[in-house]
Order: sequence, then structure tokens, then C-alpha cells
Amino acid sequence: MSTSANLSRTLLLQRLADGQFHSGEVIGAELGLSRAAVSKHVKALTELGLDIFSVTGKGYKLSKPLSLLEHKAITRLLEQHDNIQLTVLNIIDSTNQYVKDLRPQPTSGYVCLAEAQTAGRGRQGRTWESPYGASIYMSMFWRFDGGYQAISGLSLVVGIAIAEALSELSLVDAKLKWPNDVYVQGKKLAGILVEVEGQLGGGCDCIIGLGLNVDLPEKQVNIDQPWTDIIRASGKQVDRNILAAHLIKSLNNALTLFEQRGLVPFLSKWQSLDYFYDQPIKLLMGKNEVQGIGRGIDANGALLLESDGEIKHFHGGEISVRAN
Ligand code: BTN
Repeated sequence: MSTSANLSRTLLLQRLADGQFHSGEVIGAELGLSRAAVSKHVKALTELGLDIFSVTGKGYKLSKPLSLLEHKAITRLLEQHDNIQLTVLNIIDSTNQYVKDLRPQPTSGYVCLAEAQTAGRGRQGRTWESPYGASIYMSMFWRFDGGYQAISGLSLVVGIAIAEALSELSLVDAKLKWPNDVYVQGKKLAGILVEVEGQLGGGCDCIIGLGLNVDLPEKQVNIDQPWTDIIRASGKQVDRNILAAHLIKSLNNALTLFEQRGLVPFLSKWQSLDYFYDQPIKLLMGKNEVQGIGRGIDANGALLLESDGEIKHFHGGEISVRAN
């Protein structure tokens, strides 16, 4: 999408965000667009998951008010976190891709948020449904010195940071499903996708993506597993700017500690948040399946499974864990 279309859609939504009727003609005059162009942008926004309807003689209206992400509102809450640099985008293919493509490369603590993604990426090649204004789509950049062993367990730390931010805000008691799903009441609330670019003999550049459902529109969402969102799970309204700021701070603190001390300070936290601790589970690895009892994680973040009287260690992002 062109920059000017993206800008027009941002401005259009700023007007519609109050949930009141706005005449297409007036909006067009304000934004320097024809009525047909306004109508085209409205259609595109509807396709991104927004519920906008029109009534002849009255104009366009969002079915409910929308609180948009605001750079200023978020940075105000990030005081004393000097390393954090924030970009807030409107519509983008994928925040992970955006961070990956940045030149010069950002420094640790750079974070990008978007209102919608047109090609949001999930784990194992899946897509991540990313309707407009309905979630948090966030990617943080972090550079770890010391090669791939320095980042083993990273996605577990990210999950812990998310659970802690949600608990600080008294929203939900989240549980973590190894290696990187956040669950509430047995349903998926958030997912984590860490993309790593290693440098020969050098450190690892990590793009840490997180998608957290806030208020998903039921009818447009096509997710192949039980899911929930903050509004449904907590019954509370939440300001996405406050939520984003807490997630950023929690993630920044956790990554700073992880960089200094590795996974050790997180092991007991993981145990208390582990969805499958002492539960019968099965691990799916391509066509193979192993059954046993979940026994937490080891010091490198590998999943521990008790099977045939033995504790086995499992690593790797291509493993899916299910209740058995
Ligand atoms: C999963 O499959 O559970 C991981 C989903 C990760 C989605 C987030 S949304 C922000 C960031 N940008 C992407 O394209 N993906 C991640």
C-alpha cells in the first residue's frame, strides 16, 4: 500500500474513532479526497476487520468507538527506560518484517507496534490473523552477544514477561504452553514468534514478535484453535496504550536480565506458569508423536517429558505440545 493511502486511512480512522456518524463529504473535504476515494478507503478498512457501516444522509460510523495506539501516550509511560525507541505504524505487512528490514539496524530495545498487519506471521509458517485495532502486534529488536547458545530459552522468557505484564494490570492469570504460547482459561491469548539472524562468529540479532488478542471481531476471525482475548477473558475494558507500555517495559526488563544472567532467574517463574506441569501431554514432531507427563523445563529451556520411567529433554521450535 502506498504511503499516501496509509496516511489517508490513518486520518480517516482518527475521525471515525469516536464511534459517531461522519459525513463522507465532510471527511473528503478535510482530507482532500473525493467521496469515491473515501468510500474506497472505508472498504479497505472493513476488509482489515473494522466494522464500519454507512447510512444515507448520515455518513459513516464505526460500530463501536476505537481507541487508537498513540506514540505519545505510550512513551509517556516508558520513563526510565532510555534504551527503548518506539515506532507506531498504522497498517503494515508484518511488524517482524518491518524490524528485520530496518537500516541501519536498530539497537536493543527498539520496538515497533502496528494497528493491523496484512501478512502477520505465526509459527511454523502459519499466518497470524491481524484485524485492525483489535490486538497488540509488536516486535522488539534485541542483539545478544555470544551466538545461539546465548538465546536458548529466549521465547520462554518472553512468555513470562507477557504473563507478568498481564498480572500487573490485574487483567488475567495467564499460563504458558511450551515453547511460546500464552493461554488463559484453556484458550490461546497470545503467541510469540522469535526470528533470529546470526552473524558469523558474532552475536544473534533477534526480532521478538508478539501478537496478543485484545478485542477480536468474532465474525472475521479464522483461527484454527480455541482462542480468547483480553476483553472476553477478563470482562474488562483495556486501554491498548497502557497495555502496550506495560508489555514493552516488562519485555525490556526481562530481556535485560536474560542477557546478563541467562535463564536461571526465570526457572521458578516458568514452573509456576507452566500450563502442562505434571500433566499428561503428547509432543507432535512432524509425523512422530511422544507421550508422557510434562515435568517443566531444564536450565537450557528444553521441555522435560517423563516417558517410560525416564526424563527426556526436547528442544526446537518445530515441536507442538498438546494435552493427552
Ligand atoms: C504464533 O504462531 O503463535 C506466533 C504469532 C506471532 C504473531 C506476532 S504479531 C507481531 C509480530 N509480527 C508478525 O508478523 N508476527 C508476530
